[in-house]
Amino acid sequence: MNHFEYVDGVLSAEGVSIPDLAQQVGTPFYCYSTATLERHYKVYASAFDGLDATVCYALKANSNQAVIKTLAKLGAGADVVSVGEMRRALRAGIAPSKVIFSGVGKADAEMREALEADIAQINVESIPELIELNRVALDMGKKARIALRINPHVDAKTHEKIATGKAENKFGIDWTRAIEVYRDAAAMDGIDVTGIAMHIGSQLTDLTPFREAFTRLAGMVEELRTHGIEIKNLDLGGGLGIAYQGETPPLPDAYGQMVRETVGHLGCHITLEPGRLIVGNAGILVSRVMYIKDGEAKRFVILDAAMNDLIRPTLYNAYHEIIAVNEAGDGDKMATVDVVGPVCETGDTFGKDRKLPDTLQPGDLVAICSAGAYGAVMSSTYNTRALTPEVLVSGDKFAVIRERQSIDELIGLDKIPGWLD
Ligand code: LLP
Repeated sequence: MNHFEYVDGVLSAEGVSIPDLAQQVGTPFYCYSTATLERHYKVYASAFDGLDATVCYALKANSNQAVIKTLAKLGAGADVVSVGEMRRALRAGIAPSKVIFSGVGKADAEMREALEADIAQINVESIPELIELNRVALDMGKKARIALRINPHVDAKTHEKIATGKAENKFGIDWTRAIEVYRDAAAMDGIDVTGIAMHIGSQLTDLTPFREAFTRLAGMVEELRTHGIEIKNLDLGGGLGIAYQGETPPLPDAYGQMVRETVGHLGCHITLEPGRLIVGNAGILVSRVMYIKDGEAKRFVILDAAMNDLIRPTLYNAYHEIIAVNEAGDGDKMATVDVVGPVCETGDTFGKDRKLPDTLQPGDLVAICSAGAYGAVMSSTYNTRALTPEVLVSGDKFAVIRERQSIDELIGLDKIPGWLD
């Protein structure tokens, strides 16, 4: 459910018409809906009512300060994977006690800053990282609260580039070695073992792999107890998928129920790290049609947005619905088109063989849907295209929450060495 709807045949974000926004902000731009963000957060969080649980929003999905702050106001914590994301979370008002630092390789400086900020937990993903964190913590005269991220060797049945829980994936410590690593960790003076973490992948549309992984995790917590290692915090990661193309992912309530069934009896605090589910369908990428080219094989709709603005279609063959901002009337003919960007790569294609109104013309607007997660955050300046602005709507108000970068600013980042003068 989202708050992008046609009102009198024109797409609106809550109470704001998209063409009005386009006129004021220019195109392309990302547009997010506060009501949708809030709704998703609340529906997700309420699935864990009655459990001792914290929802730590995974900033990587969309780390705009305004988005984080919207969620922080509802009580969200943060899952961060870099010192940059940690600063974003803290700056948006999330308490350090609700911040978890995940990620496969943390630099010394990141560990130091995290320990200095006294965040809730650092999730450690390998033995060398554990040794390093112990060293840094001792050096600072501190004890680092940690979870070990365990790789449960479970196939999440998602796109190979976003599956993280299989033996061949770089993530976490193999579950078969976990007990031994926990015992090592417990013996380190700079380490305070508080938790266990898992994240098996993203865009999961079935509960079975989660169930398998969490059952394994519960068994490990019980086994650790027999070794005198008390786990207080279970970090279950994120990963619950959303509908991009008619998928029917499990609802948060069903996920919450499965969490209760698999780990509810352990008496631990539970952390959840949803990203996509909170922001994915709360955002669209709005773009203007520049040209329509009738080729011999195809009709191409050429947009002013490109793969640098939204990389998911070309990187993961991801499907994003594309709709005309002016709704097609009942009797309108639809044309079959490829929707492409202007970047010089064949992969710069948002969608193939899509249906858009036959009347679509240069100057018209389209919306690329479900672009709130892993959209703006993964954008680049490829082809020296400036970063796209982001807009947040709330009711009939809107605010530009990231300005359009100027091309001069972008070029200004380069430096010419003296010898070339
Ligand atoms: N926790 C950890 C440790 C993660 O690695 C991730 C995502 C999440 C939580 C949030 O997962 P979510 O709830 O959003 O599925 N760029 C890719 C997705 C990469 C996900 C990486 N990790 C995409 O556009 O599909």
